[in-house]
Amino acid sequence: MGEFDDIAVSRPADGVTLIVIARPEARNALRTRTLAEIAAVLTAAADDAAARAVVITGGVKHFAAGADLKEMAPLDAIGVLTHERPRHWRAIQSFPKPLVAAVCGYALGAGCELALACDLVVAGSNAQFGQPEINLGMIPGAGGAARLARTCGKALAMQMVLTGAPIDARAALAAGIAVEVDEPESAIARAIEIASLIASKPPLAVRAAKEAVLRALEAPLSEAVAADRQAFALLAASEDRREGIAAFLEKRTPRFTGR
Ligand code: HXC
Repeated sequence: MGEFDDIAVSRPADGVTLIVIARPEARNALRTRTLAEIAAVLTAAADDAAARAVVITGGVKHFAAGADLKEMAPLDAIGVLTHERPRHWRAIQSFPKPLVAAVCGYALGAGCELALACDLVVAGSNAQFGQPEINLGMIPGAGGAARLARTCGKALAMQMVLTGAPIDARAALAAGIAVEVDEPESAIARAIEIASLIASKPPLAVRAAKEAVLRALEAPLSEAVAADRQAFALLAASEDRREGIAAFLEKRTPRFTGR
């Protein structure tokens, strides 16, 4: 699936694309090339009907230790402002299909922000989620403070961004960052299993369902509910809805086509 320097890409199950960040010598620090490669895979997957869900992981030892500080060190304000990195982050954050993270080991700084940008996080029991930017005279630059505040509320968000201290997998589960905790050796397989289950669902409804949950985090409740109703009505025009209901009534397995 293409040639990459910083990631490995495979298809471990029907409809599932797996991205493994592979820079162990730098604890999977997200240099610009890494982000660009992740963004390129997601951009291609967005238009590929055979790619129905994506899993991203750093393997069993490290998810990602943040932005690459060696690359970041020489950048001044204009360099940061005009950098290509925000473009890659936008591609990741606006990926329209389900994005599942398997997070083992350190998810720090931009690594934590990458996990928070995913739709579901399966944590390995060795996971550490943290925003240590404060120790470097910075704040999270890719949405970490905002997403933490919305995901787990003010108290924990403040603690994490003001102290820089990481939280472990159990705390991430309790805070709503992770959906479940598994042994590191099984976290990736479990994320693939969840992605595979999602990949078996009707794609138009999956897309609308992801949009509905994300919209709830952005829009006023009445607007979000009204938009959900419109999407619900729109799906009544889909062949997959007819097929899903018919298959239920005929007591057979549905065959979804994405139409
Ligand atoms: C560049 C990094 C790195 C990083 C680790 N390395 N993190 N290189 N950028 N973020 C490199 C080290 O320099 C070292 O290279 C090698 O990886 C191994 O690191 P060690 O520290 O020796 O490993 P270990 O003792 O296992 O500690 C792991 C660690 C620690 C706890 C993850 O490396 C660490 O604290 N890293 C920095 C974490 C951090 O502050 N992240 C936030 C970055 S700011 P050499 O060449 O010496 O072997 C950020 C801003 C986001 O993310 C903004 C988004 C827009």
